[in-house]
Amino acid sequence: MKRGAEAIVSSVFFDGIDSVLKERVRKNYRVEELDKKLRSQRTRSEARITGEARRAGVKTAAIYSTDEKNFRIYFELLDGVLLKNVFNSSDERKMEIAKKWGLSVAKLHAAGIIHGDLTTSNMIVMNDELYFIDFGLAFFSKREEDKAEDINLLRQSIEATHSEFAELIWKHFLAGYSTYSNNTNTVKRAAEIGSRGRYSKRTFPKSSIKRE
Ligand SMILES: Nc1ncnc2c1ncn2[C@@H]1O[C@H](COP(=O)(O)OP(=O)(O)OP(=O)(O)O)[C@@H](O)[C@H]1O
Ligand SMILES: [Mg+2]
Repeated sequence: MKRGAEAIVSSVFFDGIDSVLKERVRKNYRVEELDKKLRSQRTRSEARITGEARRAGVKTAAIYSTDEKNFRIYFELLDGVLLKNVFNSSDERKMEIAKKWGLSVAKLHAAGIIHGDLTTSNMIVMNDELYFIDFGLAFFSKREEDKAEDINLLRQSIEATHSEFAELIWKHFLAGYSTYSNNTNTVKRAAEIGSRGRYSKRTFPKSSIKRE
């Protein structure tokens, strides 16, 4: 399916069921021991936070199995459409979905989960529901600054990928996100970060700046 900077994502059978295998691959520039440690930590972290997100009421791919030793996670195959492609299509549900996106991110943040890579390639629309994938950069935090950066990255990502609708998508996203009233400050904070110079703090996309 895809070979990213860190992982190979492929479609496989798991116990006879169509599934998605995400396997973190060796980075040759890292010393082998450290490389193995990082890959197994990230595999464990992605599996754990995906589960936490699910418990927080956000739709994610179910995890069939985690194999830390081989840096593998087997996920449920979500047979839907990437949010990126929904936003680029003539689909009339765009803004309704953007609002749902906001509400789901609010749920994650309320549970202390920062996704870390909120782009439209890490969301899948299936059966009218929005699923979150790729918790590879996710971490736990309740800090305002971390939440603000999370949604700011989302804003930059839609501006870069969906410039035509970016403002409208952002507006609807915020409407959903602000359903949780204590997010008002986070939204203000995000606007401040944005006005500091849009790309000064972190250049987009974050996912291309792989850690270590
Ligand atoms: N459970 C799933 N069901 C359907 N498609 C999936 C699923 N998981 C991943 N994909 C597809 O594979 C692509 C890459 O997956 P993912 O975003 O998890 O990896 P990545 O971006 O390479 O991760 P990393 O951030 O570690 O580089 C997604 O954009 C999506 O198209
Ligand atoms: Mg991804």
